[in-house]
Amino acid sequence: MLQEEIAGIAAEIDKIQIEDAIGAEQFRQTYLSKKGLIPALFERFKEVKPEDRKEIGRLLNILKQQAEGIWKEAKEKSDAGPTKDETFDFSAPGIPSPSGNRHPLSIVADEIREVFNRLGFTVAEGPEIEDDWHNFSALNFPEEHPARDMQDTFFIEQAPSMALRTHTSSVQIRMMERNKPPFRMIMPGRVYRNEAVSARAHCFFHQVEALYVDENVSFADLKQTLLHFARELFGTETKIRLRPSYFPFTEPSAEMDISCTVCSGKGCNICKYSGWVEILGCGMVHPNVLKNCNIDPEKYSGFALGMGIERIAILKYQVKDLRLFSQNDIRFLKQFSSGK
Ligand code: DAH
Repeated sequence: MLQEEIAGIAAEIDKIQIEDAIGAEQFRQTYLSKKGLIPALFERFKEVKPEDRKEIGRLLNILKQQAEGIWKEAKEKSDAGPTKDETFDFSAPGIPSPSGNRHPLSIVADEIREVFNRLGFTVAEGPEIEDDWHNFSALNFPEEHPARDMQDTFFIEQAPSMALRTHTSSVQIRMMERNKPPFRMIMPGRVYRNEAVSARAHCFFHQVEALYVDENVSFADLKQTLLHFARELFGTETKIRLRPSYFPFTEPSAEMDISCTVCSGKGCNICKYSGWVEILGCGMVHPNVLKNCNIDPEKYSGFALGMGIERIAILKYQVKDLRLFSQNDIRFLKQFSSGK
């Protein structure tokens, strides 16, 4: 009987996990103290028959040594360092966990958004898979315009009238079709072009479109908005210049250059020694585009502009290869901070 009890306690203490000083003391009291279970077994040694004494005595001593070993080890451990709970210093400064960076394109897109938000522009979005009407026809693209060519546009094989949008100008149409003027909105998003991927071109990139339609909107409003935008984004010293251009959906159309942000106009390899870099296309919304959206061009006029976010980011951060923006190489991405 006693032999079984000794074995039972030996098995029991073997399984015990002592966590801290409190656990060690509890263990001592339960098994080793004067009123503990092991001394109680020793008490009963008197009852053991003489012929069994040798063996039971041996087992009792082993049990006692085992228990003392466990207790000593636990006590040493808990004496060496405070317990888990005690180590928790609530006043200690936190251990910073590594945080991610925002993508450089998101940083730039947000900056653009903020500038236009302050001018009262709201944000609108549209689908990346577009039909011919929104991407081309309603924007006054002639039937034979090269942008409608397979070489420039990714058409959807199963639905040849659908394509991946080639620009965010399509969102202008969606907004104007469904709402009444005035419009003051920007439309950021991803666009696709059938181009061989290189350091300078990619088959997808990002644009922000801006549209302002109301009564009496003039080219002067456009120019002032552009100047304000350029100075907000690139600094107050920035100069702009407008060059006549052609887009089917604007008349007149222009392209805007800013004084080179790298050499301040003195000439460097970024601006190809011209002192100027092109950053966007713009113009007065073509009357046909307004008509296509059931807006009376006699009453309303507007301006639109569109820019590539990558292009702005390249200028701001002097990135040499467009592909870096979509490769998700952490060594590249870690270099950008939004300061927020
Ligand atoms: N959609 C043009 C492009 O992708 C950019 C653009 C030019 C947008 C002139 C406009 C604009 O709204 O007025 O190259």
